[in-house]
Amino acid sequence: MATVTLPAYDIHVEPGSLGAVGDIARRAAPAHRYVIITDTHVEPLYAARVVESFGRDRVDVLRVPAGESHKTRESWARLTDEMLTAGLGRDTTVIALGGGVVGDLAGFVAATFMRGVPFVQVPTTLLAMIDASIGGKTGVDTPAGKNLVGAFHQPAAVIVDPDTLATLPVAELRAGLAEAIKHGAIADAEYFDRIERALPALLADVQGAAMHDVIAGSIAIKAGVVQRDERESGVRKILNFGHTLGHAIESESGYRLLHGEAVAIGLVLESALAERLGVAERGTAARIRSVVERAGLPTARPATLAPERIVAATRSDKKARRGAAEYALPARIGAMAGAEVGWSIRVDDAEVRAILS
Ligand SMILES: NC(=O)c1ccc[n+]([C@@H]2O[C@H](COP(=O)([O-])OP(=O)(O)OC[C@H]3O[C@@H](n4cnc5c(N)ncnc54)[C@H](O)[C@@H]3O)[C@@H](O)[C@H]2O)c1
Ligand SMILES: [Zn+2]
Repeated sequence: MATVTLPAYDIHVEPGSLGAVGDIARRAAPAHRYVIITDTHVEPLYAARVVESFGRDRVDVLRVPAGESHKTRESWARLTDEMLTAGLGRDTTVIALGGGVVGDLAGFVAATFMRGVPFVQVPTTLLAMIDASIGGKTGVDTPAGKNLVGAFHQPAAVIVDPDTLATLPVAELRAGLAEAIKHGAIADAEYFDRIERALPALLADVQGAAMHDVIAGSIAIKAGVVQRDERESGVRKILNFGHTLGHAIESESGYRLLHGEAVAIGLVLESALAERLGVAERGTAARIRSVVERAGLPTARPATLAPERIVAATRSDKKARRGAAEYALPARIGAMAGAEVGWSIRVDDAEVRAILS
């Protein structure tokens, strides 16, 4: 299919590319030893194929139980200890095989192991293919909130094999679409329209042309944004659209909501907030809500989550500064507001409460 070349690393998108992980990793991050970090759902499906791709090179396989609740410092410590016990040293490359949880966690292990070893992202969820695997944000959750401990550590390569979507549960596909809808909303109205038109059929044929268009379209947008601002000092903040309230709702749900489901709710609520503040064109929120709905994603906060709890949880967000939360808000479909304030708009809690209730 395609290779997107960033200054620092290539993103390979090709059906069947799991079989090329060994070759690509050896070229992009040559090492004495390779270690695959995966989870208990992905390992039985795909680890053997990736191990095989390394031929006679020695490859260790480590795993964590599947799920966001394992993206923790405890998992980071255990994986690091297992690598040390296995005798892995500085000359090791980590292969992150799985969804965004594995990518963030294995990336953070790689960022800190022996003060940093290379890693290769092999994302197997839609969300990880189009979003989490690109851009070098790695880290873990803490009881105080999501992603509060981490590091920037760019992968040496990203290898996307769209064939792996065949085994992904449909709820996870929908969750990935939330980030694709976000990409269209922040950067490309025409792409947003294409997603809208392709739904809901898009979900029925994961190997179809429409899904490939989403993978390519979203990767281009995400890669383009992070390339302009690797460390999130400016324009990269637009990728946080939907995520200030999304992260708060995700963690307050006790992670019962998937990341993408919480982001979907966040997109709907934050676009309504943008209209309320007069930041977004009228009708922006309705369009976003309608596409989120067509994707079969939730559009409202769970009734059991009181507005005050969500507002309180935005305080632990990294985007909260000087006692008020900051938001990335749309101006209209395809364009974000707030260039003059570093793409981060400070919003009073009272306005947020009004949208939540
Ligand atoms: N670093 C970033 O820039 C960034 C961006 C967006 C999201 N994230 C993070 O990504 C995480 C969410 O990622 P996710 O949605 O991929 O969740 P996930 O990693 O938990 O994967 C979802 C589920 O699908 C399973 N799975 C993975 N691939 C599969 C396959 N091919 N077939 C069958 N099952 C499969 C997993 O075991 C898991 O149960 C969150 O922690 C979020 O914070 C990070
Ligand atoms: Zn996200």
